[in-house]
Amino acid sequence: MEEGKGRVCVTGGTGFIGSWIIKRLLQAGYSVNATVRPHPEQKKDLSFLTNLPGASQKLQILNADLNNAESFKDAIEGCIGVFHVASPMDFEKNEPEEIVTKRSVDGALGILKACVASKTVKRVIYTSSASANSFNGKEDEVKDESSWSDVDYLRTSKTFGLWTYAISKTLTEKAVLEFGEQNGLDVVTLIPTFVVGPFICPNLPGSILSSFYFAFGDKDPIGYLQTPMVHVDDVARAQIFLLEHPNPKERYNCSACFATLEKVLEVISVKYPEFHVPTIDSLKERNDLKFPDLSSKKLMDAGFEFKYGLEEMLTDAIACCKEKGYL
Ligand SMILES: NC(=O)c1ccc[n+]([C@@H]2O[C@H](COP(=O)([O-])OP(=O)(O)OC[C@H]3O[C@@H](n4cnc5c(N)ncnc54)[C@H](OP(=O)(O)O)[C@@H]3O)[C@@H](O)[C@H]2O)c1
Repeated sequence: MEEGKGRVCVTGGTGFIGSWIIKRLLQAGYSVNATVRPHPEQKKDLSFLTNLPGASQKLQILNADLNNAESFKDAIEGCIGVFHVASPMDFEKNEPEEIVTKRSVDGALGILKACVASKTVKRVIYTSSASANSFNGKEDEVKDESSWSDVDYLRTSKTFGLWTYAISKTLTEKAVLEFGEQNGLDVVTLIPTFVVGPFICPNLPGSILSSFYFAFGDKDPIGYLQTPMVHVDDVARAQIFLLEHPNPKERYNCSACFATLEKVLEVISVKYPEFHVPTIDSLKERNDLKFPDLSSKKLMDAGFEFKYGLEEMLTDAIACCKEKGYL
């Protein structure tokens, strides 16, 4: 019998969100099986995980890859809960839509089959994305959990630059909910919006790069004029909240605030005059995306409380980037 709160599995342990969930789970008294993708060419330094408080007793790291749906079996065996967080985020590869989607759906279903076979897993929390519910041609509406992105609309309009990703997240979220329903497995999904905040993973997370691209002197990989946002710690807390909730159902949006780029620039220019933020006037010429807002009413009605606002998301992220030498 496992000591503490029991053993759970987190896929994508090297990622921005996955590693933060692991940190929070260890703090909360869980034992964690984290999966990482095997990189035979270059051995990855995982000390940012193995040095976490409690890791030496409670963290196990196992190899698994979404390209091999069976590879998650060992990591899931004996767990009471599974957080499926891993997702290919290497957008610059420009892989065809069918390949991205097949990997994501087959990988997720392989994980769910291993959960059923384990006979120990009580609940699976799948990390979806606002891109799975935001794009359906009605981007001026505030989206609740009844909204789904329209795959045909994404394919033809390509409004969202990362449309192949959005399609893969939409179809994977639908597939995991359907699998849960058909196989009597308790599957819930968390739908974070743009995630910002501090990070323990070694790479600079893409969503942080996009939040204040101008400070990095880079081209913005996403490009937004307005977007809903959430702090990474609130995302991790919401994941654990859903694991521990007596009876969660289906999908939960997870978004703490709705930010315009203008507001982001205002916060940053006041706090960090050393960054040469673009002028408000220059924004008028930008043809970037206006993401719709997402309502987190369902999550809050279930009892979840967000802890962080926009200013903390930005200042926590910038402090961490400075500490790690990115800024
Ligand atoms: N960041 C956001 O703003 C945001 C917003 C909404 C939803 N999400 C969702 O949150 C999840 C995590 O995103 P993130 O921002 O933390 O991204 P991230 O830092 O890039 O993490 C992605 C993780 O997935 C792993 N991965 C990629 N391809 C894989 C494969 N073929 N097999 C197994 N693992 C693989 C990566 O492993 P390697 O280290 O080996 O590459 C990494 O651990 C994703 O599901 C994403 O869709 C993110």
